[in-house]
Amino acid sequence: MQYIRYQEQDLLCEDVPLSELAEEFGTPLYVYSKNQIVENFRAIKAPLTEINSVVCYALKANSNPAILALLAEEGAGADVVSAGELSLALKAGFAPGRIAFAGVGKREDEIEYALKNDICIFNAESTQELQLISLVAMRLGKKARVGLRVNPDIDAQSHPYITTGLKENKFGISAGEAFAAFQFAAGLPALEVVGVHTHIGSQIVKVEPFIEAARFVAGLVGKLREAGIMVQHIDFGGGFGVQYVNVLTHEGLPHENPGATPPPPGDFVGAILPILKETGCSIWFEPGRSIVANAGVLLTNVLYTKENGTKKFIIVDAGMNDLLRPALYDAYHQIVPIKIATYEHEKVDIVGPICETGDFFARDRMFAKVKRNDHLAILTAGAYGYVNTSNYNARPRPAEILVNGGKVRIVRERQTLDQLF
Ligand code: LLP
Repeated sequence: MQYIRYQEQDLLCEDVPLSELAEEFGTPLYVYSKNQIVENFRAIKAPLTEINSVVCYALKANSNPAILALLAEEGAGADVVSAGELSLALKAGFAPGRIAFAGVGKREDEIEYALKNDICIFNAESTQELQLISLVAMRLGKKARVGLRVNPDIDAQSHPYITTGLKENKFGISAGEAFAAFQFAAGLPALEVVGVHTHIGSQIVKVEPFIEAARFVAGLVGKLREAGIMVQHIDFGGGFGVQYVNVLTHEGLPHENPGATPPPPGDFVGAILPILKETGCSIWFEPGRSIVANAGVLLTNVLYTKENGTKKFIIVDAGMNDLLRPALYDAYHQIVPIKIATYEHEKVDIVGPICETGDFFARDRMFAKVKRNDHLAILTAGAYGYVNTSNYNARPRPAEILVNGGKVRIVRERQTLDQLF
């Protein structure tokens, strides 16, 4: 179900008109639907009920403490990539035995912090890292459970910045060296080599690259066992793509060409599972985007409209410091008025107030004719939105709101000017 939707001319988040939230809390403003997050999470978990599995939420997508607490309560595990994320996960109530620590550059103090908190597993990415984890574990008198992140050299056909499973990427241990790395790890004194980790990229919209990666991982597990390395755990990463284009339709909105439409997240899991299940391993996933992306919008206010020669601009009060994805990846987000007041459209650029040409949200896009003080919603902003905010141009970070039915809760206050100094 879509919890962010139009009711006649008004855009709602669950039962709450977004115009009311923009008026009450000001803009730019992140608004999230609690029930959308829960529904997304449960859809990913549903095909996994019969097997030993954990769906670890990738905190990097959105680490608002209220959202973390919600997912911890739902029984999610956590995929963390820093001491900061680990600390947030622990505070939010994720069980340490359901926490995986990934990342290509873990510092020694971060490894120590994770070992002291008895997390379930380190997903290691190099032989030097394996050595360091073993050394720190020995010093603490502990055994560290590790998985080795293997890079299967599969083209996930995503944006080059978020493709991680090709051999030229910095991530993991290459397929050719994986076997030797496992043997090396098995010989280190304070390590228990429990599993294989892979994550081939993000915003992958087809199941085929995942199926290819699953076959590779299942094959590797077989080879390792033949050599006496009895791995019992597969962490298959995240990466399930979501829809950014043509998310909402309304007779008052211009038509958007949807392009490649990803299947629902549970279908990705359903397609991969038969291959991974054969290994008899426990199976973990680490989705981030597919749990939170469509649950969030960024509300913004039209400051000015203007024409420069042939071009028309809508200048809004959100900038690239509030949502970086368009500037960084040329990412497409559907943008809609939160009240449809006209069916007339024109071609515009929607831009922020920051002193950078890259500070845009849409270019040459057909859009409703709007005026000063109209409110717009940038859709599918729940993942990699707030986490990538900054204080660039000394702009305070926006507030965040969580909606549950008709109930509205501020889950992060807007930063104040005093906090900038
Ligand atoms: N596991 C690992 C090891 C990862 O590196 C990532 C994402 C995930 C899980 C979660 O992937 P997801 O299910 O969210 O696709 N800032 C970019 C996305 C970067 C993703 C980085 N790694 C964006 O805005 O599109």
